[in-house]
Amino acid sequence: MKTLHLQHVSPEDEEAVSGMAIVLDLTLTNHWTSAGLRAEIRHSASRYWALYDHEQVVGFGGFWLIVDEAHLVMLAVHPQWQNMGLGTALLGHMLVEAHRAGAHRATLEVRASNTAALALYERYGFAVLGRRPGYYKDNDEDALILWTPRLDTPAFLAVLAECANRVKQRFYLQGLMLRQQPNP
Ligand SMILES: CC(C)(COP(=O)(O)OP(=O)(O)OC[C@H]1O[C@@H](n2cnc3c(N)ncnc32)[C@H](O)[C@@H]1OP(=O)(O)O)[C@@H](O)C(=O)NCCC(=O)NCCS
Repeated sequence: MKTLHLQHVSPEDEEAVSGMAIVLDLTLTNHWTSAGLRAEIRHSASRYWALYDHEQVVGFGGFWLIVDEAHLVMLAVHPQWQNMGLGTALLGHMLVEAHRAGAHRATLEVRASNTAALALYERYGFAVLGRRPGYYKDNDEDALILWTPRLDTPAFLAVLAECANRVKQRFYLQGLMLRQQPNP
């Protein structure tokens, strides 16, 4: 069994930031530089977590807590680790943390063509509630605005539990285990 570690990212952790920047370069265009990423993690509203295979960052995600809303800013999985359940695990963890931190709902923006991300978000109960035409300037693509239902309802907690079970089974079948380090 291979164990992946899920860990809160502190802005002082230079190795984490470098690892996250590599994943970002491999997955998204027109995104933060390492300096931009560091500034993002340093922001008082932001909270980030990374998934590690030994010392290597294989995925990460983060949100801003704005009053009682969690704004999911980033979710990315290293291409060699995609489609193995890591995105599901990271998103589930962020939603649990958002709920714990007092968020009532979570929201995010995603490219209309990003079918992989949309399928993942829909699994967690996100629904498309808005659209920003031409939001992405590189190709003039629309952004879809997604929202979860309230995070504190029994129905949503059941969705979280179902996704956690699915990840557990999927990891097990792939010889993977997930270990969560406690938040600082
Ligand atoms: C979106 C992303 C984070 C998903 O991570 P992942 O680890 O591959 O996701 P999972 O393996 O947990 O898969 C979750 C679901 O997403 C969907 N999915 C994943 N990869 C897919 C693909 N290549 N095509 C279509 N659907 C896909 C599936 O519905 C999948 O669930 P299932 O396999 O149980 O049916 C990853 O593809 C990624 O890093 N993309 C580039 C960065 C990005 O677009 N981030 C989102 C910005 S808003």
